[in-house]
Amino acid sequence: MARPGAYLQGAHRRFGDPMTIRTFWTPEPMVLFSHPDAVREVFRLDPAIAPAGQSWEFLRPFAGPDSILLLDGEAHLRERRLLQAPFHGERMRALAPMIGELARAELATWDGRVVTLQRMRELALEIILRVVFGAHEDHEVAGLRHAIDATLDGVRSLPRMLAMAVVQRDLGPRSPWGRFRLAVQRFDALLLETIARRRAQPGGGGGAVLDLLLEQRDEHGAPTTDRHVRDQLVALLMGGHDTSSATLAWAFERLARHPAVLARMRDGDPAYLDAVVKEVLRVRPALTIAPRLLLEPVRIAGHDLPAGVQVAACLWLAMRREDLWDRASAFRPERWLEQPQQPSWIPYGGGVRRCPGAPFAEMELREVLRAAAGLRLRPVRPRGERARRSLLVIVPERGGEVLVG
Ligand code: HEM
Repeated sequence: MARPGAYLQGAHRRFGDPMTIRTFWTPEPMVLFSHPDAVREVFRLDPAIAPAGQSWEFLRPFAGPDSILLLDGEAHLRERRLLQAPFHGERMRALAPMIGELARAELATWDGRVVTLQRMRELALEIILRVVFGAHEDHEVAGLRHAIDATLDGVRSLPRMLAMAVVQRDLGPRSPWGRFRLAVQRFDALLLETIARRRAQPGGGGGAVLDLLLEQRDEHGAPTTDRHVRDQLVALLMGGHDTSSATLAWAFERLARHPAVLARMRDGDPAYLDAVVKEVLRVRPALTIAPRLLLEPVRIAGHDLPAGVQVAACLWLAMRREDLWDRASAFRPERWLEQPQQPSWIPYGGGVRRCPGAPFAEMELREVLRAAAGLRLRPVRPRGERARRSLLVIVPERGGEVLVG
C-alpha cells in the first residue's frame, strides 16, 4: 500500500502475469492482468457478472448510496449519461480560458522551492469547484473548499486510512473514524444548503454543472432528490480533484528532470503538449488498477477464475511493460509523435466504467502545462521521486518538489 509502484513491479517480476494480491480494502483476493489482450477481456466483462461498484464499497460513507462509483447495471449507465454530458464538447472547451487564467495566476506566485502537489491540489479544487458551482467567487464556494479539504485530509494519510479501515467504528469524536464522520457531516450540511439555495434560485450558477444536475429527472420523470444530487457532486469533486492534481505534480516532477522536454514545450506545438500529457499519464498514472468483482466464474486469457474474487486491469503495469513499450520506464513524449497509436495506454481504465471526466481532465492538464512551459524548473534532488499512495491516487513521495527560477 505504501509503495504501490515498486510493489507492483517487484511482484510482477517475481510472479508474472496474471498475479494475485491481497489488499486491506477488499476481503477478496485480487487477480491482476497487464497484458493488453487480457486487459481488453477484463474491460469487456459483462457488468452483470463483473460489477465494479462493489469494489468501491469502502467509499460508501463519503461517496453516498447514489454515487456512480457504487452503482452497477442500468442505474450506473443512467448516472454516467447524466454526469458525462457537462464534460464534453463545446461546453467543456468554453472552460479552457478560465482554467488557463487560474493556472497563470497560481504559477506567477512560484519562486524558489515549491511542493507542487500541495499547490496543484488547491488549483484543481478551485477549478472543479468553479466548474461545478459556477465561476463567481463567493463565501459559499470558499466554505465548500475548506470542508472538502478537511474531509479528504482525514483519509489521505496512510496510517489514518489504515486505522479507519481496520476499526470502521465510531470510537468517539477524537478517533480517526469519528473525526472523519464529523467532517463528512459538516461537508454534507454545506452541500445540502447550497443545493437548497440553488433550487430556490434556478440558474444561479450561470449554467454551471450544478444547475444542469438540478434540472435532471429520474426514470419516472420526477426531479432528482437533494441527496442524489449531493452524491453526484461528491463523485465529481472526488473524481475530478485528486486525480488531476496527482498527475500535475508528477508532470512537474518529471519536467524538472527533463529540461529538454520543457524547452520543447516552449515552442508552443499543440501536438507536443498533447504528447507530454499522454506520457505523464503513461509513466505515472494516478490510479494503479481498475477492479471488478466476479459474481460468476469466468475465463480470462486462458485462466479460469472462480466467482468471489476481484479481477483487475493493472493500469500501472500495462503501461510500463518492457515487451510493449520502447524503453518503457523512460519519460519520452517524443514516442507519441513517432507512433501516435501506442498499445495499451489505459490511464482512464476502460469499458463501461472508463473515466467520464477524461476529456475534461486532459484539457485541464494541457491548460496548466501550457501555462507552466515558461517556468525554469530544477529538481531539488537529482533522483526521481518514488510513488506513494494518498487515498486512491499515487503521488510523488516528496510532493513533486521543484526549484523555480
Ligand atoms: C488525470 C485525471 C484523471 C484520471 C487519471 C482518471 C482516471 C480514472 C479511472 C482509472 C477511473 C476508473 C475506470 C475503471 O474502473 O475502468 C475513473 C473513474 C471516474 N472518474 Fe476519472 N480520472 C481523472 C479525472 C477525472 C475528472 C476530472 C473527473 C470529473 C470531472 C473524473 C470523474 C470520474 C468518475 C465520476 C469516475 C467513475 C466512473 C464510473 O464508475 O462509471 N475523473 N477515473
